[in-house]
Amino acid sequence: MNKQQIIEATIKHVQDTLKDAEGGHDWWHIHRVWKTAQLIAAAEHADELVVSLGALLHDIADSKFHNGDETIGPRMAREWLVSLGVEESVIAHVENIITHISFKGGNHQQAFKSKELDIVQDADRLDALGAIGIARAFNYGGFKNRPLYDPAVPPNLAMNKEQYKNNQAPTINHFYEKLLLLKDRMNTETGKNLAIQRHEFMEGYLKQFYYEWNAE
Ligand code: ADP
Ligand code: NI
Repeated sequence: MNKQQIIEATIKHVQDTLKDAEGGHDWWHIHRVWKTAQLIAAAEHADELVVSLGALLHDIADSKFHNGDETIGPRMAREWLVSLGVEESVIAHVENIITHISFKGGNHQQAFKSKELDIVQDADRLDALGAIGIARAFNYGGFKNRPLYDPAVPPNLAMNKEQYKNNQAPTINHFYEKLLLLKDRMNTETGKNLAIQRHEFMEGYLKQFYYEWNAE
C-alpha cells in the first residue's frame, strides 16, 4: 500500500468505527482535526503520514466511552495499522501520539514529545474552541444530561467537582475549567494564532449568554 491508500483505507475504517459516536466525537470531529492538522503541518517541518494517521486515529476508542481504559485507543490503532502492513516506526509514533494527546499538564513531565504530536494536539484543541467548540460542549453536556448553567455558581470560578452530585457540573463551567485555558497551551505558532481568534469568539459568546440569562 502507498501512503495515499493507507490514508484512504484508514478514513473508511474510522468512519465505520465511529458511525454511532456522540456528535462531538464523531467522524466529523476527526475530519476537522485532520484538516486542521494538515493546515498546521503545512507551516511546519513534519512527517505528513504520521500527522494524518495520528489525527485520523486519535479518538478511535476514547477512554471516556470505554470505562476509562486509556490503553484501548493506542492498541486499536496499532492493530489496524499492523493489518495494513504499515512500517513499525510509523505505528509506534502514531501510538505515542494517541497515548499522549490528552496530556493534562500539571506536575508531570510529558513523557513523549514530537512535532507531529504538537500538531495533532493543537488541531484537537482547536476543535474544542470557537463556534464548533461551543456546539460540542453543549452536545456533550446534553449527552450527560447536565444543566446548561447554574446562576448560583459564580461563572468565573472553576468549580469544585465534589459540589455536584455524579459530576453533573453545568456545561458553562467547562468553559472556565478547560476551554478558556487552551489558547495559552498551544504548541505551534499557527495553532496559537487560530486559537486566539476562536478564544475571542467564546468570550463574546459568554458575555451574550449572561446578558440574555439576566434579561437586561
Ligand atoms: P478530545 O476527546 O477531543 O481529546 P475531550 O474529550 O476533552 O477532547 O473533549 C471533547 C469535547 O467534549 C470537547 O469539545 C469538550 O469541550 C467536550 N467536553 C469534554 N468534557 C466536557 C464537559 N465536562 N462539559 C462539556 N463539554 C465537555
Ligand atoms: Ni479529539
